[in-house]
Amino acid sequence: MPSNVIVGLQWGDEGKGKITDLLSKNSDYVIRYQGGNNSGHSIHINDRHFVLHSIPSGIIYSYVNCIIGPGVVIDPKYLIKEIKNLEFFGIKTDKIYISNIAHVIMPYHRLLDKYQEEYLGKMSIGTTHCGIGPAYADKIGRIGIRIIDLMDKNLFRIKLKKNICFKNKIITKIYKKDPISFEDIYEEYIEYAKIIHHRIIDAVYKIHDAFYKGKKILFEGAQATLLDINYGTYPYVTTSSCSTGGVCTGSGIPPVFLKNFIGIAKAYCTRVGNGPFPTEIKGDENDIIRDEGDEYGSTTNRPRRCGWLDLVSLKYSCMINGINHLIITKLDVLSKLKVIKVCTKYQYIEKIIKYFPSNIGVNDDIKGVYIEFPGWEKKISHIRDYNNLPDNCKKYIKFIEYYLNVKILLISVGPDRTQNIIINKHFFEKIFS
Ligand code: GDP
Ligand code: IMO
Ligand code: MG
Repeated sequence: MPSNVIVGLQWGDEGKGKITDLLSKNSDYVIRYQGGNNSGHSIHINDRHFVLHSIPSGIIYSYVNCIIGPGVVIDPKYLIKEIKNLEFFGIKTDKIYISNIAHVIMPYHRLLDKYQEEYLGKMSIGTTHCGIGPAYADKIGRIGIRIIDLMDKNLFRIKLKKNICFKNKIITKIYKKDPISFEDIYEEYIEYAKIIHHRIIDAVYKIHDAFYKGKKILFEGAQATLLDINYGTYPYVTTSSCSTGGVCTGSGIPPVFLKNFIGIAKAYCTRVGNGPFPTEIKGDENDIIRDEGDEYGSTTNRPRRCGWLDLVSLKYSCMINGINHLIITKLDVLSKLKVIKVCTKYQYIEKIIKYFPSNIGVNDDIKGVYIEFPGWEKKISHIRDYNNLPDNCKKYIKFIEYYLNVKILLISVGPDRTQNIIINKHFFEKIFS
């Protein structure tokens, strides 16, 4: 059975958690393939609210196998906390599996993340300080520690010692901070290994086996295309391949396993952290959108920067990911606005352009050029049938579809699992029910 991929098309927080949970109902496997606990994926079910950081958003369904895949970086301290928290709320966690070749986030990664940000000062990325960048840097530098290494005390001891010796040189000589202790970290991680060891699997074989048995597999992207290490607004990005290309490298499967590439975009834009944001709103509408959309980081609680929908970057994201189904979330958030702007071009220095410039990350002289839509100024969160949406709302949606030339599968009109308008019912029922 060909697999489905959910991927964010903007700068993260598009509602991937909500949509993954929704589509998990009819999935056998939900797999994270990149990123780490820098993610915060929210799920609302009636009055219950969960935020998942490393665990796939299929976990609410007790029958779904949730794999933290090979391409993820795992902080066992926070993963164990997350598992315990779910158990506290009565969620079954016995189907959480961890790839043996995923890399481990160590305390020195968290410290180095913070120290590098301090060093960069005004040029800082605005990271989550979770240690994601330094952990991926060690992976690429071939000095990383993998989950499988924690299972071999001697090997772990040797690798950790070498790493700590090297990191302490950086910490003390470059950053002028206190060194870290080998013994403390060694003991701490040996304890974590005991707690998680029964979940550790060869994920590559498990995923292939599931595929050939005809199981329904959903890949859940974290972060988003404009934060992708290669194709995002570099250097203001995260350090993994968040776009659909990352599914294969992050889970050990060939591209032919994949069929439906479902892109998630908000009806506007947000960004948390630093970096270019051509459609950022400087006026009152920023506060309206932030308040209505509750735009505060799920991981760091930082206020998110808000802006108008940017169709130029969205088209680029659809192209990078090969999106064949689009989901628009948070349309309800725009309900109070009299006028809604949509960016269809950029003003780039003196020129008008219709493409996403590759040096956008180092050039803040890029501004959105807009067309305006009259708002619908009515609540829409209760609507479940597309035909019942206000006309101005439909015009907005149709324009997005027309510009991107991708069909909209579903519109989300509220945080709850039930607050959806399914447009392509045929596809949805065939694949997800
Ligand atoms: P993710 O990282 O992509 O999973 O997104 P987050 O969970 O970080 O942020 C999305 C936020 O918007 C969460 O608080 C969701 O509960 C909420 N949300 C998702 N879809 C909708 C929607 O259609 N309308 C509203 N008002 N909130 C939504
Ligand atoms: P989800 O999965 C939004 C941002 C950080 C920072 C940049 C680099 O919830 O959509 P990092 O800690 O990854 O090195 O930070 O990336 N960032 C996110 N922004 N949603 C996320 O995840 C993010 N994960 C990282 O704010 O700008
Ligand atoms: Mg999030």
